[in-house]
Amino acid sequence: MTYLDQRYLSESAWKPNLFQGKVVFVTGGAGSICRVQTEAMVLLGANAAIVGRNQQKTDDAAKDIQSLRKDAKVVSLPNVDVRDVKQLASAVAKTVQELGRIDFVIAGAAGNFLADFNHLSSNAFKSVIDIDLLGSFNTVKACFGELRKNKGAIIFVSATLHYYGVPFQIHVGAAKAGVDALSNALAVELGPLGIRSNCIAPGPIDDTEGMSRLARGGKERIIQKVPLQRMGTKQDIADATVYLFSPASSYVTGDVLVVDGGSWQVSQSAASHDYPVTLKKYFDAPKGGKL
Ligand code: COA
Repeated sequence: MTYLDQRYLSESAWKPNLFQGKVVFVTGGAGSICRVQTEAMVLLGANAAIVGRNQQKTDDAAKDIQSLRKDAKVVSLPNVDVRDVKQLASAVAKTVQELGRIDFVIAGAAGNFLADFNHLSSNAFKSVIDIDLLGSFNTVKACFGELRKNKGAIIFVSATLHYYGVPFQIHVGAAKAGVDALSNALAVELGPLGIRSNCIAPGPIDDTEGMSRLARGGKERIIQKVPLQRMGTKQDIADATVYLFSPASSYVTGDVLVVDGGSWQVSQSAASHDYPVTLKKYFDAPKGGKL
């Protein structure tokens, strides 16, 4: 089963074959968001290699994604932990052997759970920093030769958690702040080599592992606080990915593309008042629209 299908070719804003001849290397590619990012890239002509820890899950995802396009090749790279740069280097070598090159890198592997400071051990904090931040560094490190050769582009999957203090997410907020800093510095250092580096910061995205782990109080409560008044979809993130890898963004680097329906712009205190719902009353009230 895939999330996207052939309709993406006719109904999305992108032209088919946009990424023909290109290869994308994706950590966390069997997970919910990164898998759909990969689906979009493959539908639009790219071949892909997906890195995961679990053999069955990674193999199954690769097979499903490959079925999206005749002649597509999607390589499964299971049993790879992004905390180990040597394992990643072997995965990159296998990708180049089977697909010939790497043009695009998505550093998406992440770990998350809810824990308050009192119950967050030093090792728990370190585990998430190691997966999210060190793992992102390792991914680019292992892919650097290919990125350099092909003047490639990198996308880090970040978050908006660290824009303010989110309780129970100390470890992830700290890790993602580091990921943003890593991307910014890479944009500056690698820009002269023709390599672009950007982040995507997803907000509340429906039907993802993250939401199922983190959402409290149900979807309706979340939607009330989103200015665009809906949950994000995995396709929203896939579209942002296609944009950032396409020539349409060839002058965009060191940027963070927030895809969250405007959510983080709502301050925590305003959010607690369900402000979009309250505001609707003012828009609908008689005698409105006075100049
Ligand atoms: N609350 C508090 N501490 C937790 C925890 C939780 N829910 N889950 C794990 N930990 C702690 C463990 O107790 C351990 O700390 P300790 O040694 O002090 O006891 C530490 O985190 C490492 O746990 P371990 O299970 O050994 O790590 P791991 O490397 O196998 O797994 C995690 C990493 C913890 C991030 C795990 O949740 C994971 O593998 N996640 C990947 C998938 C994922 O999170 N996807 C969501 C993406 S948004």
